[in-house]
Amino acid sequence: MCGIVGYIGNKKASNFLIEGLSKLEYRGYDSAGIAVINNGSVEIRKHKGRLSNLVEELENNSADGTIGIGHTRWATHGEPSDINSHPHQTSKGDITVVHNGIIENYNELTKWLKSEGYEFKSATDTEVIPNLIHYYYKGDLFEAVVKATENLEGSYALGVVCGQEPDKIVAVRKDSPLIVGIGNGESFIASDIPAVLNYTRDIYLLEDNEFVVLTNEGAKIFKANGERINKEIYKVTWNEDAAEKGGYDSFMLKEIHEQPKAIKDTMSGRVSLNEKINLGDFKLTAEELEEIDRIYIIACGTAYNAGLIGKVAIEDLARIPVEVAIASEFRYRNPIVTKKTLIVTLSQSGETADTLAVLRDAKKIGAKTLAITNVVGSSISREADNVIYTMAGPEIAVASTKAYTTQTVVMNLLGMYLADLKGMLKSEDEIEIKKALLELPNKIEEVLEKKPQIAEIAKIIAQEKDLFYLGRDVDYALAIEGALKIKEIAYIHSEAYAGGELKHGTIALIEPGTKIIALLTQTNLKDKMISNIREVKSRGAEIIGIAYEGQELDSSIFDEIIRIPQISTRIAPVLGAVVLQLLAYYVAKERGCDIDKPRNLAKSVTVE
Ligand code: G6P
Repeated sequence: MCGIVGYIGNKKASNFLIEGLSKLEYRGYDSAGIAVINNGSVEIRKHKGRLSNLVEELENNSADGTIGIGHTRWATHGEPSDINSHPHQTSKGDITVVHNGIIENYNELTKWLKSEGYEFKSATDTEVIPNLIHYYYKGDLFEAVVKATENLEGSYALGVVCGQEPDKIVAVRKDSPLIVGIGNGESFIASDIPAVLNYTRDIYLLEDNEFVVLTNEGAKIFKANGERINKEIYKVTWNEDAAEKGGYDSFMLKEIHEQPKAIKDTMSGRVSLNEKINLGDFKLTAEELEEIDRIYIIACGTAYNAGLIGKVAIEDLARIPVEVAIASEFRYRNPIVTKKTLIVTLSQSGETADTLAVLRDAKKIGAKTLAITNVVGSSISREADNVIYTMAGPEIAVASTKAYTTQTVVMNLLGMYLADLKGMLKSEDEIEIKKALLELPNKIEEVLEKKPQIAEIAKIIAQEKDLFYLGRDVDYALAIEGALKIKEIAYIHSEAYAGGELKHGTIALIEPGTKIIALLTQTNLKDKMISNIREVKSRGAEIIGIAYEGQELDSSIFDEIIRIPQISTRIAPVLGAVVLQLLAYYVAKERGCDIDKPRNLAKSVTVE
């Protein structure tokens, strides 16, 4: 997601700010900006697009001064544009802020601050922060930042400067990363260590709700009540490349671990036990929904697989017929699309050529369109009538992980939203799903603890040429994604089968030693799955089961069982997905594959 940096010392701040931001480019961004204090006034330069746009401007219109903050923005609220770029400034002065994170209550705060006479220029959630700090400012920036953060809900790492206190930067973090670098006569803040590694290896790792005041005398860390915190310096011993991956050996593994946070962000402001599902700008009236007689979910690759889960959720909850279609197929057949059709284009990048083409064709016919995408301002998000963002943060590894799980979460939210609009959302279903969703981040952490077991199983699977994934209902949908994941990154031929379909052909392929990954999260179908497993076991297959903790199973038919925490069967595929992602990852690692850049594949397929 966004990256922030800050510099205070006796050199030209903009030089470090640009270099630091370039080291944070891996986090993904669509605009960049800096603010520098020059002779007591705050000068801002910011631009949509690559960092080079900002560098070009600085060549013509330099920003001098030895104190400054900088930002690369990955849009979440408001499209990428010059105005939405950071830094943001209060409308009543020059308090200036860079922010990484999401402010969940920005709508309420904006309303209140408007009534206090503040004006807003951007569509961002961030702009409330400098206004809020200004509201509390009585001559002490640190104090005003503390008071402002008391009003903020959500996640933030902030860097703040103002002309009235031109000798300092105040920074703070809560649920977004921030480190402090201690150099020789200079100090830094940054979202991540690589930004400062050319300058120092002495770092303070800030904890949530710790405030730092940087001046020419160095960095002092405080609690909100003003009490000083004496932190130990952390000495960085590893290299930059490892740092960008947060200590993981690949972006894929890092992104697998980011799923608890990504899912929290996806649900932020949308799900709470006592309120209706809030899908932000996607608002449909009951009358408009009545007009819709079918839904097509259009997608490619992993997004298509998430669509399969969406079909089950929407049909089950909202009783609207849903077809999931591969975009490249759909566009060349003659599907029944009318003004009564809702076309949901599901795409991580929002740029996939075939998905975009279907969206354009559908609009020509006058169908209603909804984009579900991870990238704000992407073509699909701009061209659809409505958009819901998955908020997973940038996904860099080619094999999709956190984009998939956040898509499946959004699919469930959409199912509940539509059902509620039709007045048919049963309160027991609503509570079951919401509870499961809210528990999901912690339960994913529990699944991540299964890594050692999964790594051991991967050693055996890595020797295989063929692999089968079996499941029923949403487990079958998940099996398709599991099989794709291992194909993509470990280059093992793998196929997913619906348990009941085995005997219609595939069982002929089962030989002694064939490995089968069997998914057993759909409790109502457990006995059916067990029968299917017995069928293949008796023909010599070796079975790796994925089942709930405490679920009673006849251990004689399993060679291994990976246990996941109990959760609503509707949401269980998310936990199963994490197991299958890890399995693919460890098998690929065992086989020495290039995990982040698998052969022949591209992250975003923008050509047909
Ligand atoms: C490529 C990627 C897949 C992705 C698919 C659809 O094939 O390698 O990981 O699922 O495109 O991409 P989208 O951005 O539309 O979700």
